[in-house]
Amino acid sequence: MKLDVTPLSDALGAQIVGADLARWQDDEQYEAVHRALLEFGVVVLRDQIITPAQQIAFSRRFGALELHSIVPCRMPGYPEILLVSNRRDSSGAYTGLPDAGREWHSDSNFHAKPSLGSLLYALEIPHEGGDTLFANMTAACAALDPALKARAAGRNARYVYGSRSAENTDSALKFTMTKSQWSEIPQAVHPLLRTHPETGRKSIYLSLTTIERVEGLSAAQGDDLVAALSEHFTQPAFVYRHRWRLHDVVFWDNRCINHKAMPFDERHARHMHRTTIAGDRPY
Ligand SMILES: [Fe+2]
Repeated sequence: MKLDVTPLSDALGAQIVGADLARWQDDEQYEAVHRALLEFGVVVLRDQIITPAQQIAFSRRFGALELHSIVPCRMPGYPEILLVSNRRDSSGAYTGLPDAGREWHSDSNFHAKPSLGSLLYALEIPHEGGDTLFANMTAACAALDPALKARAAGRNARYVYGSRSAENTDSALKFTMTKSQWSEIPQAVHPLLRTHPETGRKSIYLSLTTIERVEGLSAAQGDDLVAALSEHFTQPAFVYRHRWRLHDVVFWDNRCINHKAMPFDERHARHMHRTTIAGDRPY
């Protein structure tokens, strides 16, 4: 079956209607999704009814899966699934990350080899709010002012989970974890401009959730550079806003796309399953 791939915005993103991930065994279709991911950065697969095992199996076709560092938010029985959820258990404790990624970032940026891509599956969504913004970091890089590009070129940033102020940090820090679980969370240093290993294109690579500093600059100079790059890549021309529909699977390329979760009324449930595909060391 040939897939119908339709662009979602001028900035990035395409949607695929009519695919059924639960029954998918056709290599050509995986290849079509892969091509759409490389071309559009974000692929939205509508109307999927899939089990955790099926999401894991589909995701694995694109690479090995990561286990999230916040161990209590892994789905019981399916550790490859991160629960992004504001559901609570009988004791009132959150069962997943209720407010993950409220600032611009790329997933698992604090790993030496950050994620290739993430798949987020919407099982319960609020009536309004809770959208996800995506930014095309390749287009933003190509449009950089030469002087700003020169300031970023050759620079590296250090990423440390929990290093940012409370408003930038998701609620993961409130979860109870053992000392050894905390100590296993990695730190990493990555270039501010990276090359996509498959397309060869340059992107800005910058996560505001965890950036500790830009190496080789004073804190003030580093903050200035991060602010200038952030102001640039968040311009509307580079951003697509995804309004979730129930049973959407959204697959994004963490190597060239940033994302940010928008707030919603916490009285309503928002429950999602994320799988995270491991990637390569940025260069
Ligand atoms: Fe994220």
